[in-house]
Amino acid sequence: MPRRGEKPQSARVSGDRLGALLDAAVDPIVLIDTRGRITGLNRAAAAVFGYNEAEVLGQNVAMLMPAPYREEHDAYLARYMDTARPRIIGIGREVVARRKDGSTFPIDLSVGEFLSGEERGFVGILRDITLRKQQEAEIRKTSEELRLIFENTPTAITITDVDGHVLDANRACQALLECNVAELKGGRHTDLVMEEDREAVRAEFVALRETGNRFSREVRYRTRDGHVLYAMLHAGVARDAGGEALLMICEIVDRSQLFEATREAEELRTRLAHVSRLGTLGEMVSGIAHEVNQPLTAIANYASAARRLVLSGDTDAEELASINDKIAVQAERAGQVIRGLRSMTRRREAVRESLDCSALIGEVSKLIEFELRARGWRLLISLEPKLPEVLGDGVQIQQVLLNLVRNAIEAMNERASDDFVTITASALGSAWVEISVSDSGPGLAQEVEERLFEPFFSTKTQGMGLGLSICKSIMSVHGGELRYRRNLHGGAEFIMRLPAVGI
Ligand SMILES: Nc1ncnc2c1ncn2[C@@H]1O[C@H](COP(=O)(O)OP(=O)(O)OP(=O)(O)O)[C@@H](O)[C@H]1O
Ligand SMILES: [Mg+2]
Repeated sequence: MPRRGEKPQSARVSGDRLGALLDAAVDPIVLIDTRGRITGLNRAAAAVFGYNEAEVLGQNVAMLMPAPYREEHDAYLARYMDTARPRIIGIGREVVARRKDGSTFPIDLSVGEFLSGEERGFVGILRDITLRKQQEAEIRKTSEELRLIFENTPTAITITDVDGHVLDANRACQALLECNVAELKGGRHTDLVMEEDREAVRAEFVALRETGNRFSREVRYRTRDGHVLYAMLHAGVARDAGGEALLMICEIVDRSQLFEATREAEELRTRLAHVSRLGTLGEMVSGIAHEVNQPLTAIANYASAARRLVLSGDTDAEELASINDKIAVQAERAGQVIRGLRSMTRRREAVRESLDCSALIGEVSKLIEFELRARGWRLLISLEPKLPEVLGDGVQIQQVLLNLVRNAIEAMNERASDDFVTITASALGSAWVEISVSDSGPGLAQEVEERLFEPFFSTKTQGMGLGLSICKSIMSVHGGELRYRRNLHGGAEFIMRLPAVGI
């Protein structure tokens, strides 16, 4: 290369005018004859190659090329002269050039043939494309790096077009969904989602395309092997510089373990609720025994009346049938209490069904009435007519009621006899049903109120401190809540709020 400031020799081909013209060209230009000998080069070419004109004139142009072009050039030129079949002449292509110092650089070479009088030759116009090549290499490197990151990131990702068709899926995604990328490509992302969730996910994608707001939601996928995959889907949109949506990027996070843990926690909660239910019923055993005993005593009485009637010899069939009917009614009453008890004590999976709160409260009152009456306390029940139904597990809701009433009874234990427990049920708009249990006990001290729903918090010597925390968790699983407030008599009032059916 010529040093800075050193003026290279210019081409002198056929007069100063042409030479000046060639020198004025920005791109390097080399002229050769039909045997490949250099007949001229302009100033730019001299500068690029580091030669001056005297060093190259008459030399084989192959000196400006590295191997393998250097060795091939003569044969190539001879073939062209024989056959006139060009590989580069009139076309141009990317090749590599060699400087005087032996270093090489990529060029775009276009070659044209000229005929001027007797003189025939070729003109090569070169463009140094080192920079372009470097940029291309950088772009290639960056896109390879991005590809590597995409492929090897531990998060499962699919890329879709704006209509949700899968364009690509990385390795983690293929492993998670147990299928290869070829199977995924072209299909819709939503086709991988389980049917139950598909419509909702489709709606999210439509909203994403329209608003561009990314979304996250729990989604169940069906893997190629047919397994259900519990996952969290995060999806966002990638836009071009003009704001046009180009791609959607969907990240699938495996939540199976978390789901399993939640399921186990739910099972434990159900078991704990069951144990606590047995405990509560155990405490109420005398009341319940009385509830069963009443119809049994009545049955015994009717039976001896029937016996007396038969023995008197004055048997009136009508009267006997009526006594028989009364026995049946009492047996049915005892049966009802026992059926209620059995459903409360059985260990079972939680269920969700439409429930009539008035009926639930009626059944619970049967189990507690006697105990209250025996102490001279009143049980007041006030039910709003036409209460909307609630969705839930009847036994669990009754358990909450029983716990609250038991707490009320225990709170009132040391009080005078003119006490009461009130259960009311009312609708709150069309969305909620509220059931409240209110007592005439002493209410809660401030420090008790603060810790009321803490597990194992109890002020009682025999208390486990689990009653209210179980009630609260039952209510929250039902999408409802449990609150405390002091009532007008200074006693405690607990309010259960449950979502009404259809909301
Ligand atoms: N109606 C109420 N009146 C006054 N205090 C109450 C009332 N209900 C609950 N409490 C207070 O809240 C505490 C916690 O109640 P919770 O039902 O959780 O546990 P517990 O009744 O002590 O024990 P467990 O119900 O597990 O046998 C009670 O110990 C009591 O101090
Ligand atoms: Mg309790």
